[in-house]
Amino acid sequence: MKSFYITTAIDYVNSAPHLGHAYEKVLTDVIARFRRQMGDKVYFLTGTDEHGQKVQASARKQGIEAQAFVDKTAAEFRSLWDRLGVSYDDFIRTTEPRHKQVVRDLLQKLFDAGEIYRAEYRGFYSTRQEQFLQEKDRLPDGSWPELFGEVTEIVEPNYFFRLKKYQDWLIDFLTKNEDWIFPKYRQKQVLEFLKEPLNDLCISRPKERLEWGIPLPFDEGYVTYVWFDALLNYYSAVVDKGLWPADYNLIGKDILVPPHAVYWPIMLHACGLPPPKHLLVHGWWLQSGAKMSKSTGGAVNPLDLIAQFGVDAFRYFLIREMNVGQDSEFTIEQFLVRYNSELANNLGNLVNRTLNMTTRFAAGVLPAAEVVEAPERELHELWAKTRDEVIPLCEGFQFHTGIERTIAFVTATNAYIEKRAPWKLGKSATPEDQALLRTALATMAEALRLAVALLQHVVPGTTEKINAVLGHQPGPDWRSELQWGSKLNGSKVAAALVLFPRPATPDKPA
Ligand code: ME8
Ligand code: MG
Repeated sequence: MKSFYITTAIDYVNSAPHLGHAYEKVLTDVIARFRRQMGDKVYFLTGTDEHGQKVQASARKQGIEAQAFVDKTAAEFRSLWDRLGVSYDDFIRTTEPRHKQVVRDLLQKLFDAGEIYRAEYRGFYSTRQEQFLQEKDRLPDGSWPELFGEVTEIVEPNYFFRLKKYQDWLIDFLTKNEDWIFPKYRQKQVLEFLKEPLNDLCISRPKERLEWGIPLPFDEGYVTYVWFDALLNYYSAVVDKGLWPADYNLIGKDILVPPHAVYWPIMLHACGLPPPKHLLVHGWWLQSGAKMSKSTGGAVNPLDLIAQFGVDAFRYFLIREMNVGQDSEFTIEQFLVRYNSELANNLGNLVNRTLNMTTRFAAGVLPAAEVVEAPERELHELWAKTRDEVIPLCEGFQFHTGIERTIAFVTATNAYIEKRAPWKLGKSATPEDQALLRTALATMAEALRLAVALLQHVVPGTTEKINAVLGHQPGPDWRSELQWGSKLNGSKVAAALVLFPRPATPDKPA
């Protein structure tokens, strides 16, 4: 069995999760479920990023201890992932002792090896934003933007990690491993960034400015810069399991350069560890063209959509709509288009027809197919083509196209039913028509079973429900489930199943 270790970014817990965070966890889950179906031994890690300035500030605003604050918000994230069926194997929190210990051990190791040194840091500091500013933050006239408030020049001793020393190594690594980052064009952006000389990385914050962090093992007057702490979660969570390196670190495009594409491989290399095998970089969910974010307000709360349409409709939309790597605009209108035309009127309709007609014309017991004429042959051929295209599409993270093809097969199955018109065949008593009727019932049910097997990693709950009403118990080998056959012969089906209630409109909820 091939092992497959996959991670998500760990979310800042300074406010509630929104649709963008949910997308990343669902996407990682879809990949994890797909790889399990393909026979890999998957290990799936997610978690929360709990240290740093923003978290400390949010806790203070609420007037509670930082630890109490992160306990509350981390639980909120975790319960949302549980609700969404995110099948993680481990959930790491950066405030856990198991993580802090690994970070301190590696910091000490790097310090002892001379990879971390103490020096004077000089820079412009915004007290309002509680951050150091850079020259590029200045307005064209040289002044600082209003949002930074009062800006003062500060000189303070700090600890630095020798990033610069590894610039050539990183360029060489990226040049030799052309497909390290998916999508590939993002790797070129990293090389572009590396054309400018790197600075060493300040990895400490004096405790007077920031208390909420991991103390440096060699100077307890400082805590660790939050990125140096957070990135190490991917390693600290599996240090005892021998799973490093990860196959994929999944992240959004905003945290590729420099943290994941520059700091992370260099940190690992300096510690004598290999980089992750790949980074998978997704795009943003946008609202009116801008990144959906907790600070801009109006971010979509996944719980609202789940309450109205169900977990699987939400998962389906995220994966169907977004081309992995690119951005997508979120609108409720587009959500409803997908919900109504693909789930309710197409897949849901096929389920209803299969159950109704089997109940009406065969006393609820699926017959065997007896005839193969052009309509059946065409559907069999379309199935083989669909399956053989969808698997490689999923292997290449083109889930949206995979779903499109699968839904096209569902459309073709509904068209097959129109062609065979079982409601007409049911009125005829000739043996030929009766054989055609049994064939039509068996064919639509088998096509439905196959289509939902191919959607299983996207909508696992729906697949399970449909299998249950078809009286089907899937075997352990997913790929053998994808053979057109006679698995359903003699199955007793349920009379009805309401999957995607319709019509759904914003004013008239489902
Ligand atoms: O960056 N669309 O945390 P975070 C798609 N703690 N993805 C989005 C998004 C949107 N509108 N908004 C956010 C952090 N994300 C760090 C990560 S990893 C060692 C530390 C994604 O809560 C974002 O791209 O700001 C990132 O991958 C994840 O949500 C967490 O973002
Ligand atoms: Mg962010």
